[in-house]
Amino acid sequence: MKEQNNTQISNIDADDIGHNDSDNGSFENVLESRISRRGILRGGLGGAAAMMFGGVALGGALSACGGGSTDNTTGNQTPGPTPAPTPGPVPAPTPTPTTPPAARFNFNPVAKNMLDALTLPAGYSATVLYALGDPINTTTAAYKNDGSDDAASFDFRAGDHHDGMNYFGLNAAGTARDLNGSERGLIAMNHENITDAFLHVAGATTTAGVRPAAEVDKEIRAHGVAVIEVQKTAGKFQLNRSSVYNRRITAQTPMDLYGPVRGSDQVKTLYSTDGTKSRGTVNNCATGDTPWGTFLTCEENWAGYFSRTGDVLASRSANELASFGRYGVPSGASGKKWDTAGAADVYKRWNLANSGASALADYRNEANTFGYVVEIDPYAASSTPRKRTHLGRFAHECAVYAPVVAGKPVVFYMGDDSRNEYIYKYVSKAVWDSADATKGLAAGDKYLDEGTLYVAKFNADGSGTWLPLTLANTAISGYAGFAFASLADICIHTRIAADAAGATKMDRPEWCSVNPKNGEVYYTLTNNSNRVTTAASGSKILPDAANPRAYEDMKGASKQTGNVNGHIIRTAEAGADAAATSFKWDVYVFAAEAKAGAAVNLSALTDDNDMSSPDGIWFSPKSGLLWIQTDDGAYSDVTNCMMLAAIPGKIGDGGATKVANTIGAATLEVSTHKGKNPDGESLRRFLVGPKDCEITGVAETPDGKTLFVNIQHPGEDTKVADLADPSKFTSHWPDGGNARPRSATIVITKNDGGTIGI
Ligand code: FEO
Ligand code: CA
Ligand code: CA
Ligand code: CA
Repeated sequence: MKEQNNTQISNIDADDIGHNDSDNGSFENVLESRISRRGILRGGLGGAAAMMFGGVALGGALSACGGGSTDNTTGNQTPGPTPAPTPGPVPAPTPTPTTPPAARFNFNPVAKNMLDALTLPAGYSATVLYALGDPINTTTAAYKNDGSDDAASFDFRAGDHHDGMNYFGLNAAGTARDLNGSERGLIAMNHENITDAFLHVAGATTTAGVRPAAEVDKEIRAHGVAVIEVQKTAGKFQLNRSSVYNRRITAQTPMDLYGPVRGSDQVKTLYSTDGTKSRGTVNNCATGDTPWGTFLTCEENWAGYFSRTGDVLASRSANELASFGRYGVPSGASGKKWDTAGAADVYKRWNLANSGASALADYRNEANTFGYVVEIDPYAASSTPRKRTHLGRFAHECAVYAPVVAGKPVVFYMGDDSRNEYIYKYVSKAVWDSADATKGLAAGDKYLDEGTLYVAKFNADGSGTWLPLTLANTAISGYAGFAFASLADICIHTRIAADAAGATKMDRPEWCSVNPKNGEVYYTLTNNSNRVTTAASGSKILPDAANPRAYEDMKGASKQTGNVNGHIIRTAEAGADAAATSFKWDVYVFAAEAKAGAAVNLSALTDDNDMSSPDGIWFSPKSGLLWIQTDDGAYSDVTNCMMLAAIPGKIGDGGATKVANTIGAATLEVSTHKGKNPDGESLRRFLVGPKDCEITGVAETPDGKTLFVNIQHPGEDTKVADLADPSKFTSHWPDGGNARPRSATIVITKNDGGTIGI
């Protein structure tokens, strides 16, 4: 979490949290043996060539790589798109089918760089659509962006830290859902967190342990979700501030609890004495949509928002204490200290202390109402969001459905992003009926409130098993570490049930996406500083087949160890049935620096496609391209975060391989299964973001011609002490000049109006 007062805002990955010290075996049978630019930017820095986008001067903050290959300033470039070979005359019929020409990208790779600018390939342009503080109605004043904008106005402003998002088409009149609506649509978007330095005049303050209410009020409103209408006007997408769909959902918006947890004693609070309601959603990271046209927002690092100041441990059950520990809920004052701002309910609900006469008189259970997938109907602005508790409670990244088949269950894939956490899927009890495709939240009730939650176990031989998280699973019902007595227990304390079941500890599962061509599921495993080559103990664990790397990497003068750069794993369900209980897997790509040795750069990445810490991942249903986004702090001495396009193959296109891990003097060879190495024609860097940002969130119009991308927290490493001197801000993106940086959504188009990427 962010630190307060005159400290550096954050130069660590706030997501990099780990609380899994469980000893469920994850690497038995796995260890085979133990042995002891295109860089010339037009309109670059300094505002010397301020560019006009839609009539707004953007101080050189958005740049396109100009010109052709003569602009190259770095070597080792991949040649541009090669025309598909023209078949010559066919002399005679042949029984052998010809191989179709390989798909080719329509852009040249963008070079790594550390500019405070957005770098795009030649032939592409971007505009800023929606930045922190922008009004989403016609009556709210323009954002001053000096920290003085009042808290209440944030009910009608863009929140901070734009993250996952989905596009929902509208018809031309804007009156109804249209799956093919590429001129007008809704974007539902997460506002994951805040850069508190820039949100307030002089950063977040705390006096004698107390946060000012005005600051907390603003922070609560800058979190959550936005639904905004976007419309093409004169060929460019713009925010429609008059839209009836526009809404903000914040950390205080009323929500309903649905699924097995609804009504449980463990979610009864002063606010909802029958355990059916909660308020707000926080730290919404990735997202999903549904076959019935709703939006799923996923609560990730919610635990750090709570304090337990004055909690009486003697009055807590063994189950409660085990769960607090396993989820990393602070044992005292912690997090954003929202609870300190006053006695009003809006503040005190963030303190979990068991200070009342019963659970109905305090907020001891409030944390049990966070950590879920939340369903929102973007087309119904007055609808109440529903927390879908059957999808489990953890640090949810996204929830992505497998293509639906009439008469078959609906399946969602999900990751839990903390070190050593797990991959999950949910299989509905109800089978798919296409008549439900227009039923919104009512369809959500049908498919999301009753089913089976599974957790993944990856075996060394390239197979895997989905382990059911049910009371019928005796590993759970008989678990010594927690007394599971109901399905609600499993849905609230999911991580512990997964420990009991014997899930495989993964290298921080972030997003996932399903390949529309073959149903294979790709999961980013962003990194894991806890992988070691010797002396595993507690949360320090040895590599295994599915997480096979532990190595050293230098960032400047400092050494980093573990799986520093992350990888992307993919699974294929048995029989191509999403509801199957077994699967095959391999590693699609190992992220690495191009200059790293072969034992680390296992996928042989080059300067055109090397990357670190893949996070966002999304298949375009139109183009079939796989988009990969990074949230990296390991390679950030060389390049800002980036987005790459990929044309992946399929499981089994590579083969078995051995990884020679070395940390210090300890070496450890691990066997794994690796896909065919990508090359410049199948994996290529598409953009690089401004300083200190994360690239996250991607959505596309159904025609594939407009891509929306989120640039999160540019300039977040700025020190609060430097706020008075804009020359010391690490970024001024997107406004340029002396402006404070802002998270923002950009709209990317191809100058010739073509499809994006391919
Ligand atoms: Fe919000 Fe795991 O990234
Ligand atoms: Ca390095
Ligand atoms: Ca993320
Ligand atoms: Ca991340």
